[in-house]
Amino acid sequence: MHWTNDLIFLCMLDKYLISMHNARMSHAQRARTSSDVCFVRAYAKINLTLDVLGRRADGYHDLATVMQTVDLYDTICLTATEDSQVQLACTKPELSNGDNLVVQAAHLVRQRLAIRQGVLIELHKHIPMAAGLGGGSSDAAAVILALQQWWRLHLSHSDLLDMATSLGSDVPFFLTGGLALCEGRGERVTALAPYWPRSMRWLLLLKPAISISTAAVFRNLPASDYSDDTHSRAVSRALNAGQTPQLEDLHNSFERSVLGRYPEVARAKGDLLQAGAPFVRLSGTGPTLFAPFSELANAQRVQEQLQSQGYEVYLSRAIHPNVVDVNVY
Ligand code: C5P
Repeated sequence: MHWTNDLIFLCMLDKYLISMHNARMSHAQRARTSSDVCFVRAYAKINLTLDVLGRRADGYHDLATVMQTVDLYDTICLTATEDSQVQLACTKPELSNGDNLVVQAAHLVRQRLAIRQGVLIELHKHIPMAAGLGGGSSDAAAVILALQQWWRLHLSHSDLLDMATSLGSDVPFFLTGGLALCEGRGERVTALAPYWPRSMRWLLLLKPAISISTAAVFRNLPASDYSDDTHSRAVSRALNAGQTPQLEDLHNSFERSVLGRYPEVARAKGDLLQAGAPFVRLSGTGPTLFAPFSELANAQRVQEQLQSQGYEVYLSRAIHPNVVDVNVY
């Protein structure tokens, strides 16, 4: 792939950070780049359950959600540069700017340890954006973990968690990934035993052709759609015991309002069911829908049918990335 200059966005340290940085240089930790290039994968997630418990005084909502990593991933390549800048080049030009969480993640790590080393981040997007699959959050967590491993940084678990939480509610989950119950804003992550039911061996992920703002979906959620954490706890208990959860517990508090507000999502759900998907649920705040299958052939047949109707559909599966998938060259 040829990167053009206009895809490269230079994120300069502003004057304040430079003076802060200079003031701390005597104690500065220099990143030790054992090699020049580091590749890392950032996996997407689905929400098996998503219980919104209520609105908090700080404007966020308390949640209980069971999340699972799936094998749809973005690829990130980090290259050490001679300057002290964080640069981003992304295959989606609209994401090539300083608001991108990967840039913020790299700045956070460098600021926390007063590191001067510059880095170019190349981000090859495969995970649909603003889709309920956690792509941006996963990219951010992957950059933190990759820098930690590549530069051999001394960051405690609480350092990592602090940085992840400040970047977004879903980011802490992606520090470990796999299968987990996430509570609070999403930052209280409890790993679950890596059991995945046979009936859900294959997952179709259908992304309707709209993007949805997470903040707007939270804002438009009526209190009557709040739930308690019964569903998420029941599903966590079942999976921890190696049992298939009850389908009625795969509850998403947002599904009713998102289907009501966005007819494209309701239509896509109907089309999936009509094509033979046994069960369909919204992932996160949507608009992506997931449908589990036990047989690959059935998943493939439904995928082909939906693709012929013009839908964007991915055939995926649950995965447990035990270690961050980093390759240093
Ligand atoms: O944490 P994050 O920046 O990903 O959240 C995006 C928006 O989603 C927040 O600004 C907030 O409006 C909403 N949100 C929420 N409660 C959560 C997570 C997100 O209200 N637990």
